[in-house]
Amino acid sequence: MHIQDLTDSGFGTVITDVDLAELRDEEWEQIYRLWNERALLIFPAVFLDKDVQDAFARRFGNLEFPRTAISNIGKNGEIHQEPEDDVVKVIRGNEGWHHDSTYMPVQALGAVFSAEIVPDEGGLTGWADMRAAFESLDKETQDKVSSLSAYHSYYYSQGRDGYLPSEQNADGTYNAYGFHDGEACLRPLVKIHPATHKPNLIIGRHAHNIIGMGSDESEEFLDALNEFACAEERTYFHDWQEGDAVVWDNRRLMHRVTPYDMSKPRRMWHTRIAGDPSTELADNYT
Ligand SMILES: [Fe+2]
Repeated sequence: MHIQDLTDSGFGTVITDVDLAELRDEEWEQIYRLWNERALLIFPAVFLDKDVQDAFARRFGNLEFPRTAISNIGKNGEIHQEPEDDVVKVIRGNEGWHHDSTYMPVQALGAVFSAEIVPDEGGLTGWADMRAAFESLDKETQDKVSSLSAYHSYYYSQGRDGYLPSEQNADGTYNAYGFHDGEACLRPLVKIHPATHKPNLIIGRHAHNIIGMGSDESEEFLDALNEFACAEERTYFHDWQEGDAVVWDNRRLMHRVTPYDMSKPRRMWHTRIAGDPSTELADNYT
């Protein structure tokens, strides 16, 4: 197994010469340790099939959901590209920085993500380091954010950006994953990482309505915090080659996709790893 840290971002490691389908115990132990230390592991050109990808993800924890296509290619090969298309709305929503499933009672632990079909331009995935972001805040702001909690909701993020699904149920809900129909999930802005014990910002596009602030004040505060947190020096953008796979730590990193020409096919495969309810449960859920 060959290991090479990314140099510019402060997180992320490229691992080659490894067979993820047949990991030896010592290789797995090293991968798991590196995942906690480096938050993003990149495995170039490994061409994982469904079973191998899901089995690899399951080593990190239970699955929130097994390998699922994130794609503008429909079931019959048609390309979803019109702005009002619900498939397009989901993909465009992912262009904003976020942690996965903070809008669900248990936020995701991480994800294994692989590329099958990639466009020539755009469609990169970026990650931003929320541990480094917290450490870069001045002490006064660290103390302030450490005392705050915000609600997280996919209704809020997709609604704010104009990406809600075209069909709504009579009770106001939507039949799409992520539109959790319980109370919006309340999370502290600072999460102590259960493995590293270091503070990480948990913010992103799903966060809104900080307790104790008016809606406008909260939005302004969170917009500024998100912008600061995702400054270039704390990010890495991966320019996918077909067959690449990654696994990231959703407790530390935010991520986003960069825009691409939606008339060009792109198919990525996402296996979402469930958080541990003892450490990833929203404060207003039991
Ligand atoms: Fe995501």
